[in-house]
Amino acid sequence: MHTQLPHIPVIVIGAGFSGVAMGAQLKRKLGLHDYVIYERSPDFGGTWWANVYPGCAVDIPSIFYSLSFAPNPDFSQLFPDQSEILRYIKDVAKKFDVDTHIRVNMSWDDATWEEATKTWSVRLRDTQTGEIFLQECNILISGVGGLVNPNPCTIPGADTFEGAIAHTARWRKDIVLENKNVIVIGNGCSGSQVVPAIADKVKNIYQFVRSPQFYFPQNNITIHPSVKWAFRYVPFLMVFLRYAMFNFMEYWFIQFYTNDRGNRHRLMKKKLSDNYVEKTAPKEYWDLLKPTYKVGCKRRVFDSGYLRSLHRDNVHLTNDAIVMIQPTEVITESGKHYPADVIILANGFAMADYSLNVVGRDGVTPQMHWQKMGGISAYKSTACSAFPNFFILLGPNAATGHTSALFSIENTINLIIKLARPILQKKQAEVVVKFDHEKDYCVKQQAALQNRVWADCRSYYKDEKGWNFTMYPWSSYTMWWESRFPDMNAWAYSK
Ligand SMILES: Cc1cc2nc3c(=O)[nH]c(=O)nc-3n(C[C@H](O)[C@H](O)[C@H](O)COP(=O)(O)OP(=O)(O)OC[C@H]3O[C@@H](n4cnc5c(N)ncnc54)[C@H](O)[C@@H]3O)c2cc1C
Ligand SMILES: NC(=O)c1ccc[n+]([C@@H]2O[C@H](COP(=O)([O-])OP(=O)(O)OC[C@H]3O[C@@H](n4cnc5c(N)ncnc54)[C@H](OP(=O)(O)O)[C@@H]3O)[C@@H](O)[C@H]2O)c1
Ligand SMILES: *[C@@H]1O[C@H](CO)[C@@H](O)[C@H](O)[C@H]1NC(C)=O
Ligand SMILES: *[C@@H]1O[C@H](CO)[C@@H](O)[C@H](O)[C@H]1NC(C)=O
Ligand SMILES: *[C@@H]1O[C@H](CO)[C@@H](O)[C@H](O)[C@H]1NC(C)=O
Repeated sequence: MHTQLPHIPVIVIGAGFSGVAMGAQLKRKLGLHDYVIYERSPDFGGTWWANVYPGCAVDIPSIFYSLSFAPNPDFSQLFPDQSEILRYIKDVAKKFDVDTHIRVNMSWDDATWEEATKTWSVRLRDTQTGEIFLQECNILISGVGGLVNPNPCTIPGADTFEGAIAHTARWRKDIVLENKNVIVIGNGCSGSQVVPAIADKVKNIYQFVRSPQFYFPQNNITIHPSVKWAFRYVPFLMVFLRYAMFNFMEYWFIQFYTNDRGNRHRLMKKKLSDNYVEKTAPKEYWDLLKPTYKVGCKRRVFDSGYLRSLHRDNVHLTNDAIVMIQPTEVITESGKHYPADVIILANGFAMADYSLNVVGRDGVTPQMHWQKMGGISAYKSTACSAFPNFFILLGPNAATGHTSALFSIENTINLIIKLARPILQKKQAEVVVKFDHEKDYCVKQQAALQNRVWADCRSYYKDEKGWNFTMYPWSSYTMWWESRFPDMNAWAYSK
């Protein structure tokens, strides 16, 4: 049983930054109002709606972690917290009338390419009632994000635990931390933000880590009202600073090369990080805070008070792995028992089960298609030759470790707008990337990835076979150029 919804030219899945920016650009650049965004959560904002753990904040300066067409002179800090970013997304959605196009509590189940009509038949499920809807569209755009599905807690005994267990991205407002013994698992950006944010509330924090991270100092500058005033009224000031910030951050890209220049840059960065750790953190933990893998292999952590919090008597750090959870304690590999009232999972997200439920031309699934490619990939991170009129935002190899994810999202959106224009103007019915171009791109990309640092450690950047499906191996300038001036020979249109 299902309900058929009326045909619509564009369907976007996911209402995080990707979906909202896509909607805004459909309106701004194509004057299109006939689109809908489906979001499975009860509200929109994506990452910034889901991650409400204490301490959650952005670590890319907000002047650049914002959309190019919607500068915000009102951010209070250089690195504002989650609530400000969420408010910004909501403001952008309102300003460009995207909010009225978002349907929440609607989960995308799958989509099938219909050759006869050159449309996608999209299946959606109301998360409240379970009701199934089908809708046809000409262009289907996935903005489902990457860091959305929390890693589960696989430690034996978790089901017997008497207190609350919560992942940072599934934070529950009802969790009481006051005077509790809190276990934190993980030390990525999320774990390193949550620890200092709760340290003065709890009785004890016992943080369990696996591999060390590189820490760098962060200057969280408060933006003075006079500066906000200048941002609002001095022409091009924000544009100029945004560009300056982009260039400044892009300089960090050198660290990813495995050549001499990269080595020198990494050595410099390693020294900076090690010195900072030695200056800021207690000596007993230095070994756990100074990685031996190469800088850049994992996403660096900007320290927002974490290292200093390790000096507190109630904050304890160890790499002794938890092997068993009991009703009121955890037991480690070395046999130690730690009292536990609350367990916070800051153990990251499931990335490797990256899958898209689409059935393309001739019944081809992404799994079948990616077998031909050697692994998960997409032409310019956004399209595959078996899936006409289908695009992915922040897709395979679209991530950058050193700069704003929004830059990548916006570049792909610009490319999609260019490609979709003839379809939405009804001059063409289909656009698809040519197989040979896709394959060449994939080979070239994986070859470039061989000469980057990401092989040097375990991270969510790769799948279990070591296939690199996350990182973009070239500079942001290349990314910008290639989406601004795409090779149109790579694409085939048909009526
Ligand atoms: C805690 C945290 C902090 C971060 N900080 C930074 C930072 O400082 N700088 C930076 O550049 N990046 C950061 N990131 C990365 C961040 O995810 C991106 O910057 C950006 O927000 C991604 O936006 P998105 O819209 O592509 O994906 P998301 O924000 O993840 O949104 C995807 C949306 O799709 C929805 N969805 C998924 N599947 C379905 C489905 N089947 N049906 C319907 N809806 C679906 C989800 O519910 C979600 O709302 C951070 C990530 C996390 C988790
Ligand atoms: N703006 C920000 O500052 C900010 C904040 C949060 C998140 N983010 C973004 O979101 C991404 C994900 O961040 P995240 O911190 O949520 O996840 P993450 O970077 O994947 O970190 C998860 C950490 O948990 C560790 N871990 C996993 N299982 C464990 C176990 N059983 N025992 C001990 N440790 C375990 C991992 O160790 P291993 O290293 O050994 O695998 C890893 O260090 C970041 O890379 C970043 O892009 C940004
Ligand atoms: C979405 O679901 C939530 C419960 O998860 C509910 O409270 C809310 O009213 C729903 N919103 C809409 C618009 O259906
Ligand atoms: C920057 O400071 C503000 C205000 O004190 C805070 O809310 C935010 O979390 C801080 N950001 C970081 C990254 O620490
Ligand atoms: C992935 O990249 C690393 C370098 O970062 C390389 O050593 C490894 O061989 C690559 N894997 C594949 C499958 O190409």
